[in-house]
Amino acid sequence: MNGSHAASARAAESYRATYARWQADPEAYWLEMARGIDWIKAPERAFDPAAGAYGRWFPDATCNTCFNALDRHVRDGRGQQAALIYDSPVTGTKARYSYAEMLDEVATLGAVLQDLGATKGDRVLIYMPMVPEAAFAMLACARIGAVHSVVFGGFAAKELASRIDDAEPRVILTATCGIEPTRVVEYKPLLDSAIEMARHKPQTCVVLQRPQADASMHATRDKNWRTLTAAAKAAGRKAECVEVAATDPLYILYTSGTTGRPKGVVRDNGGHMVVLKETMDQLYDVQPGEVMFTASDVGWVVGHSYIVYAPLIQGATTVLYEGKPVGTPDPGAFWRVIAEHGVKVLFTAPTAFRAIRKEDPEGRHLAGYDLSGFGALFLAGERADPETLKWAEALLKVPVIDHWWQTETGSPIVGNPIGLGALPIKHGSPTVPLPGWDVQCLDEGGHPVKPGTMGAIVLKLPLPPGALPTLWGDDRRFREGYLAHFPGYYDTSDAGFIDEDGYVFIMGRTDDIINIAGHRLSTGGMEEVLAAHPAVAECAVVGIRDALKGEQPCGFVVLKAGVSQPPDEIERELVALVRDRIGPVAAFKLALTVNRLPKTRSGKILRATMRKIADGEDYAVPATIEDVTVLSEISAVLKGRGFG
Ligand code: COA
Ligand code: AMP
Repeated sequence: MNGSHAASARAAESYRATYARWQADPEAYWLEMARGIDWIKAPERAFDPAAGAYGRWFPDATCNTCFNALDRHVRDGRGQQAALIYDSPVTGTKARYSYAEMLDEVATLGAVLQDLGATKGDRVLIYMPMVPEAAFAMLACARIGAVHSVVFGGFAAKELASRIDDAEPRVILTATCGIEPTRVVEYKPLLDSAIEMARHKPQTCVVLQRPQADASMHATRDKNWRTLTAAAKAAGRKAECVEVAATDPLYILYTSGTTGRPKGVVRDNGGHMVVLKETMDQLYDVQPGEVMFTASDVGWVVGHSYIVYAPLIQGATTVLYEGKPVGTPDPGAFWRVIAEHGVKVLFTAPTAFRAIRKEDPEGRHLAGYDLSGFGALFLAGERADPETLKWAEALLKVPVIDHWWQTETGSPIVGNPIGLGALPIKHGSPTVPLPGWDVQCLDEGGHPVKPGTMGAIVLKLPLPPGALPTLWGDDRRFREGYLAHFPGYYDTSDAGFIDEDGYVFIMGRTDDIINIAGHRLSTGGMEEVLAAHPAVAECAVVGIRDALKGEQPCGFVVLKAGVSQPPDEIERELVALVRDRIGPVAAFKLALTVNRLPKTRSGKILRATMRKIADGEDYAVPATIEDVTVLSEISAVLKGRGFG
């Protein structure tokens, strides 16, 4: 056996032993992992199977997440170490916050929130760009036991309004603007119009003034962030950590469902900390004092878990990057950040690497950057196509690790646990189930399929700590949406297969969710917007292949009889409508007028067939099709726009 084979064998053995230890006694395993956390009342019991929809983790424990992310590191001598490095090429700003400084900022903001009446269990909505204050806001909520709900800045007012109505926040924290390379996105008008639309009216909005945009302030409701925090600092006001139950919610994060109504994924305090710490050790191998750079946004689960909570709970340093992989200013932006801040692990979405590759296929922008401390690249958020993986491996000469998870799970389900020793990589597979996850592949009848056969990827209950216990205020939707289809399992709504070696392959969604540049969006939600246009009789939105973003939405619309407005004008209005109602992040640029939609005899729209036509793939004509000639009409319209 040569050296690398021996290392692989050791890694496989270490992974197998850890996974087997979890399988043999999950409760003992998680109680052991729980020792990595500073509890107020440590758990004596790991799991209560009778509580919640499928049981609850650490039912007898109490804790504070902010204490674990900040205070304990200051207590243990990391006060002067960098907790957060802010790197913002879009504003030309960089800043470094030590653990002691960050604790000071967070405790102050916590006191401000308490002064505004926010207490344990109250919701605080955070609508902010990628600035350090967004992370301070999340941790300040955690500190005082308030439940935060971060809304991504690329969503439009209506999406924000639906989240305000569902979460019913007492306070909203925002900034005057976000900065995109081509424009300043003013947040305040969006927020004002969302509050106007929403039934629930928050008591207070705290607005962080950024130099790039001013905002008009509501006389009684709006408060200036810097004025409030400066006053609290001058008065020496700081919030103490509030004791919460491990099962109390830390946050609600809305994600796309199959309809336009977003789902409020609930995350608890205790289990979340335990699992994040475990993944930093076993999966990412980022140790205290090391630097992790997660190029995502705090509005997504990736940002919650691996920009904010996990690196800080681990006592590592996190990089909060306000910029893009390309164009800010060039495709060497990530290499600069890695070299400048001594990054060990970079985590981003494959689309970012496709963007870099497109602009710099030879990797010329790498020249001059010292990446000797760089250890691994992790990719998630969408399927990592093997071409991009191979390109990144050849360029960076570090392990490139695809890993698979969802907003709901809060942490990776399948990955290559390099902290235990890297397993051999199979391109196209995120590797193996991590401890805590019993991943299975079932047919429609709920029976396990043979290795290599496509099926529904499901997770055997109970889900591990850190996964969602329910949806905010909607246990029924949680049970019906996730647990009802395959009794005893959580349905991931992803399809794929598991091979002979136990490697999992995730091939795509089984529902109406599409993945645009690693962002999860609902085609059903877009259809609701298109259908609201007065000229539209019916419509269907499908995700079609896009070389950069993985998928892009394509809306087929049938106009009402007698509509005299020119179709191209209606198509432009539809594009504008989706941008206005859902937001630019939906990247909806393609509305196509067709005479009819292909349907089955029972009236079901054949979305999958339209998608295959658009992608130029072979397709079998469904036996139940009502009228086969519609397919050639669709094909002709697509060809007219350069697709299919
Ligand atoms: N606030 C307001 N608008 C935003 C926004 C934000 N936080 N983030 C994105 N947008 C806008 C963009 O400006 C763009 O608007 P446009 O239609 O006017 O150009 C639109 O939403 C689509 O954004 P995006 O999908 O990011 O596309 P892009 O063309 O700006 O950039 C990539 C393409 C590949 C560079 C970019 O998607 C990227 O960096 N992806 C990384 C993946 C990632 O972060 N995934 C998160 C999950 S891990
Ligand atoms: P989100 O909840 O936004 O994180 O999106 C989760 C969905 O993104 C999953 O259900 C998958 O469809 C997709 N996804 C995430 N990571 C991967 C991956 N590594 N491979 C394939 N699909 C992925």
